[in-house]
Formats: sequence, structure tokens, C-alpha cells
Amino acid sequence: EIQERDSLIIANDFARQYYEDQLHQTEIGKSVGLGYFRSRGFRKETLKTFGLGYAPSSTDGLYQAALKAGYKEEQLEKLGLIRNGRDFFRDRVMFTIHNLGGKPIAFAGRILRKDAKAPKYINSPETEIYHKSDVLYGMFQARQAIRKLDNVYLVEGYTDVISLYQSGIRNVVATSGTSLTPGQAKLVKRFTENVTLLYDGDKAGVKAALRGVDVLLAADLNVRVVVLPDGQDPDGYMQEVGTTVFEKYLEETRQDFLFFKADILLEEAGQDVAARSAAIRDIGSTLALVSDPLKRAGYLQQFSSKLGLEEGLLVQLVNKAIADRR
Ligand code: CTP
Ligand code: MN
Ligand code: MN
Ligand code: MN
Ligand code: MN
Repeated sequence: EIQERDSLIIANDFARQYYEDQLHQTEIGKSVGLGYFRSRGFRKETLKTFGLGYAPSSTDGLYQAALKAGYKEEQLEKLGLIRNGRDFFRDRVMFTIHNLGGKPIAFAGRILRKDAKAPKYINSPETEIYHKSDVLYGMFQARQAIRKLDNVYLVEGYTDVISLYQSGIRNVVATSGTSLTPGQAKLVKRFTENVTLLYDGDKAGVKAALRGVDVLLAADLNVRVVVLPDGQDPDGYMQEVGTTVFEKYLEETRQDFLFFKADILLEEAGQDVAARSAAIRDIGSTLALVSDPLKRAGYLQQFSSKLGLEEGLLVQLVNKAIADRR
């Protein structure tokens, strides 16, 4: 007997094929869908590698095709492909989300043009085969490069993954716009211990990176951060400057998590003694997450010389944070 999970994956694979056929083989798909991806600079082979497709505006095109092929309404609804007798994804370009074996476990659909009322992306619901908090988008495509290079770039968005991959940076996965979870950190750890956060160059991106640092450190990963130029995301910046300049930027601006966090918090605090103390305490609580005592001592040394503060004082602070956590 086929397991429920397998049959959900088989149904999703039918949908994936449908969206791909719509993109590559229909007139509307070719003009609207391929036209959209072309405008974003995505090449044909990239579309295949990532299972990109097009959902037409038709009310129930997928629904009817799937029923005809023998799929059950209940299952299509559970997968979020159908809602109230209509296709859920309509007139959107489609992104397939794969499991580590390359099987489709979920989809995201992007609107084609800016619309104040409709969300930019809509996504499949949680199911037995899709636990969003344990998934990193692009891991199937990136896993070998991550192992080989022993480093992973963590970005926010689907198109950031695709754009970098196409430009030759293949060790990249996305959190898909939500805050990084312990489950995702654990997944990373199966492939490498070295993570570089590469979030959007805006306030939200910096905030997300600050939170992400703690989650990754708690999973015993080595964490570095790159802050992109103002307003850029990895896709936009790559499309603007190309691989050579992009890689040079990564090399030159990559910081250890400690300096990233310290620079931001200390800058915010300014010269006010109380605010500065709170910032130092906050950084101390992050250092307390570093479980390797040698690494922690190294960071404490760097931090104290950066602050011009007595190292023993910081050691005390961090040890207290460690004790409090227990
Ligand atoms: N996201 C989402 N739903 C939204 C907006 C964003 O699920 N309504 C997720 C998507 O995974 C998206 C990521 O958050 O890729 C980052 O959001 P954003 O930076 O706004 O989008 P981009 O990935 O830059 O997408 P694009 O370049 O197509 O605008
Ligand atoms: Mn489960
Ligand atoms: Mn953003
Ligand atoms: Mn973008
Ligand atoms: Mn973005």
C-alpha cells in the first residue's frame, strides 16, 4: 500500500508538471510566465533546475486536469492546490519547494505585477509532507556545493537563491521570509558548520540577521554576516553588479557575528552609559550561546579590546548569562 505521504507527493508532482507544462507549452504561459522569468534574467535551464512554472488565471484548470487523472478532491484540498472548488494558485508564476530527495512538497506563487490588495507571494499550507519550519528553500539544489565548500549562504527569498545559483554561487538556501528556526539550523548542520547570513540590505533584514545569529549559535554553528548595500537584496545586487563584484563584496564585507552585532548595538546606544551597558549585556548573552570555551574566550578577548573594557568584567557577565540560562 502506498503511504499517505507518498501519495501526497505524487499529487504534488502532478501539479508541478501541470505548472511547468503551462509555462513551457501554452501560448499564455510562454508570453506571460516565460516573459516574466526572462525579465528577471532567469535562463531556461534554471527554470528546469528549480521546477519553475506558471499557474494560469483559469478558475479550475488544475482541478479538472487532476480529477481526470484520478486524483482525489480531498487530497488536492489538503495540499492547498484547490480551495472551494477553485484552483488556489491563479495567474502567478510558480516556485516548487523540494525535499532533500528533490520531490515537490509545496509551492509558492508570485504575483506578476505590483498589487496593493493581493499578497506578493502565496504559499502551500503545512501538511504531513511540508513542515515549513524545518525546510530551507533550495537545499536540494545546493546540498552538494554546501558540503564541498563547507559553507552556506542564508538568504531571505526564493529569487535570491535562484539568482545566485544561476550566477555560480550554488551554496545558497532561503528561509523564505520567516525568522530562522532551530529546525532549520539543525538542517544546515547536516551539511556544514559554517553559515553566512546574507539578508536584504534593509532594517528588516538587519533585524532578522540579529535574531538569526542567536538561533545559529545555539545550534553550535559558526556564524558570519554580510550586510548588503542599502535597499539591495542578493538577487537585485547580483543582477546589478555580476558575479565578480558580488563575490568581492562578500569577501570584503563578511564579518564575524560578534562585530556585526556589536557595531549595530553600540552605534544605536551612542554615548549614553545606561544604553551602552544594556547593549554590552545583550552582546554578552549572545556570546553565552557559544558553547566551545576556546572560541568563547577568543570572542571575549576581541570584544573587550574593541570596547576598551576589562576582559575579566566581560567574562563575569557572560558566565552569569550562562548560569542564568541553566
Ligand atoms: N514572502 C512570502 N509572502 C509574502 C512576501 C514574502 O512568503 N507576501 C517570502 C518569500 O519567500 C520571499 C521572501 O519572503 O521570497 C522575501 O520577501 P521579499 O524580499 O519581499 O521578496 P523577494 O524574495 O525579494 O521577491 P521578489 O524579488 O520577487 O520581489
Ligand atoms: Mn511529520
Ligand atoms: Mn525584504
Ligand atoms: Mn527580490
Ligand atoms: Mn527581497
